[in-house]
Amino acid sequence: MTDVQPIDIRARRPASGLAVETRELTKWYGRNRGILDVSLEVPRGEIFGFLGPNGSGKSTTIRLLLDLIRPSAGTARVLDLDVATESLEIRHRTGYVPGELALYGSQSGTAAIRYFAGLRGGIDTTYAFELAERFRADLDRPIGKLSTGNKHKVAIVLALMHKPELLVLDEPSTGLDPLVQQEFQAVLRETRDEGRTVFLSSHTLAEVERVTDRVGIIREGRLVVVERLSDLKAKAVRHLEFEFDRPVPAGLFDGVEGVRDIRIEGRVANISVEGMVDPAVRAASALTIVNISSVEADLDEIFLAYYRGETDAATPSPAREVTHVG
Ligand SMILES: Nc1ncnc2c1ncn2[C@@H]1O[C@H](COP(=O)(O)OP(=O)(O)O)[C@@H](O)[C@H]1O
Ligand SMILES: [Mg+2]
Repeated sequence: MTDVQPIDIRARRPASGLAVETRELTKWYGRNRGILDVSLEVPRGEIFGFLGPNGSGKSTTIRLLLDLIRPSAGTARVLDLDVATESLEIRHRTGYVPGELALYGSQSGTAAIRYFAGLRGGIDTTYAFELAERFRADLDRPIGKLSTGNKHKVAIVLALMHKPELLVLDEPSTGLDPLVQQEFQAVLRETRDEGRTVFLSSHTLAEVERVTDRVGIIREGRLVVVERLSDLKAKAVRHLEFEFDRPVPAGLFDGVEGVRDIRIEGRVANISVEGMVDPAVRAASALTIVNISSVEADLDEIFLAYYRGETDAATPSPAREVTHVG
C-alpha cells in the first residue's frame, strides 16, 4: 500500500520545469537514419502530441528517452534526470506503452497487475482495477490470447497504475474502439490535470487532436515544428465565398494580405485566406455583400503539408497547393 517514494535528486540541480528535454539528439542505426538533431522541450503538466508518418523517428525518440537504445550524439533529460546515467530512476517515475507490445503468455491481466504492483514496490492496485473497468479491459483471459486492442488496454493500465509523473505512449490507440478511446482520452486529461505529463505519439492527427495541448511534428528524422494546436489552427487556410449584389470587379482581392487562389465568377468570389481573415473581409466590404460562407480551417491540410515537407518550421505555407502524391 505504499506509494513509490522517489529519491529527491532535485537538490542536485535546479528543477527545469521540463518533463522532457533533448538537445540535438541523434540516432544512427549503422548507416540508417534514426533521428537527426532533435531538440525538444516538453514542460511538465501538458499533453504533448508527437506526430509523424511511419518511419519518421517517433519510436526511436521515445526509446532514447527511456534509455532502451543509446544516442549517436546529443543528450536527453527526462524529469530533470540524465537519460544516460539516471535511467533507473526515470523508469520508476515513468509509465511506458511501447508501440509493439511484448505482452505474451498465460498470465491474466489481473495477475499482471498484481505482479507489476509488486515490482513497483507493492503499490496500491485500486487505481489499476478502476482503470481496467473504465476501459472494459478483459483481465481474466491469458494476455497472450487477447486481441491487439485488448492487449493495449492492459498495457495502458500497467503503464498508468503507479500514477507516473510522465506517461509515454507510443501509438497507443491502435485497436481501441471509439468508446474506449474517449475514456482513454479522459484519463489522459485527468493525468494532465494532476500536473503530470503525457507524451503521446501518433501517425494521425485525428488520434491526438482532441487531447493535445501542443504538437511536435517529426519528418524523416527531423523535428519540423512544435506548436500549440490552437496556433496551428490560426494559421490554417480558410476558404471563403462572397456573394455580392453586382458582378465582382476583377482585382478586388489583388494584393490583399493572406489572400490566395482568387476565383471570380459573376457576383461570386471564392478565395483562400491564410491566417487572419480580417483584411479579406475589409476588402470585400468595398461592395455590398449579400452572403458569406466559410469552410472551417482544415488542420489535416497543414499536417499533410508538413508531412510531405512542403513547408518548414519557420513559415508554414499551407496555402500552397497540396498535391496528392501516391
Ligand atoms: N533497429 C533498427 N535498425 C535499423 N533501422 C531502424 C531500426 N529501428 C528503426 N529504424 C529506422 O529508423 C527510422 C525511424 O524509425 P522509427 O523510429 O521506428 O519510426 P516511427 O516510430 O516514427 O515509425 C526508420 O527509417 C526505421 O527504418
Ligand atoms: Mg513507431
